[in-house]
Amino acid sequence: MIGACIMAGGQGERFWPASRRKYPKQFLPLLDGKSPLQETVARLEALIPLEQTYVVTTESYAEQAREQLPELPEENLILEPVGRNTAACIGLAAVVMAERLGGDAVMAVLPADHWVRPVDAFQEVLTAAMQAAAQDDWLVTLGIRPSRPETGYGYIRHGSERLLVNGAPAYLVEAFVEKPSRERAQRYLSDGRYLWNSGIFAWRVATILDQLQRHLPEIHEPLEAVRPAVGTPRFWEVVQRVYPGLPAISIDYGVMERAERILVFPGSFAWDDLGSWPALTRVFPTDAAGNLTRGKVVLEDVRGSIVHANGKLIAALGVKDLVVVETEEAILVCERERAQELRRLVERIAEEG
Ligand code: GDD
Ligand code: MG
Repeated sequence: MIGACIMAGGQGERFWPASRRKYPKQFLPLLDGKSPLQETVARLEALIPLEQTYVVTTESYAEQAREQLPELPEENLILEPVGRNTAACIGLAAVVMAERLGGDAVMAVLPADHWVRPVDAFQEVLTAAMQAAAQDDWLVTLGIRPSRPETGYGYIRHGSERLLVNGAPAYLVEAFVEKPSRERAQRYLSDGRYLWNSGIFAWRVATILDQLQRHLPEIHEPLEAVRPAVGTPRFWEVVQRVYPGLPAISIDYGVMERAERILVFPGSFAWDDLGSWPALTRVFPTDAAGNLTRGKVVLEDVRGSIVHANGKLIAALGVKDLVVVETEEAILVCERERAQELRRLVERIAEEG
């Protein structure tokens, strides 16, 4: 038995102003009309039946999720009263899946904010990862060959022996470092033994519950109280009572950095986390001057810029390396190099109303 847990509750501040608290990046039609969430579900369809696919998101995004995934059975939409990061999200899904699919079921965990091509290469590696997870108590992750000293990702140092697991190459993991400093990321990039953590995992439901119990009992124990309510009318009430008290920590810091038996399957597909506006230029073709434009845009002597018009016409002359985004509510003008810092700016905007 296999199931999927798609994590779709992040806030995506770095796509402001197109993303607002009500409409974060996993729901934005960034990918030729489809949202990253819709693409994530579509990528899985050939491997895991929709009846066994669970989407976890916060209550405030429930409507967007239902609208974008009309085929998803209502009981497969798992709502959180508030976001408590990915360890709690995975814990809640694991408790539901333990009741519905059983502890021996393999659980594939997928972020809803990724771009992946080609889909069949991804499906091949995920299939091998799920098979490995089914056979033993492994925590399995898909790794990506790093191409820049990105500080927003996790890094995996793998052993030197290349194993063949169900016909696919895999390595034992020696160390897992979440979001290193710039200097460390640079070192890992030149080292050659490191892969990026894609944030795509596979493990048995019982295995991850056991790991949560060991490394994050303050999440595991309260969630065990939810278990008897799965499938009953009391479920939401119990989740509402328990969930806000859980610590907000990611699975990467909370479990992966501390766990011992991790196996990594290097992905042979192209992958991007779509972390911020400039990430779109790694995914979509730019014009000869390196610009990426959407909507009504007229440019003259503009280079290396991302210009997104949603209603009004944007005209620009003689500028370079900017991000300019227009929506009904707000206009962003930002140096491309600094687009990662948007998260901080958006916090200030929220504070200052
Ligand atoms: N349901 C729910 N609730 N989902 C959440 C929550 C939450 O509280 N917080 C985050 N998510 C979702 C996000 O929407 C996203 O799809 C996924 O979980 C991962 O969260 P991010 O916040 O995007 O994590 P990250 O990108 O900083 O880091 C993770 O992914 C990287 C690759 O994309 C880590 O796993 C890194 O190690 C990894 O390199
Ligand atoms: Mg992410």
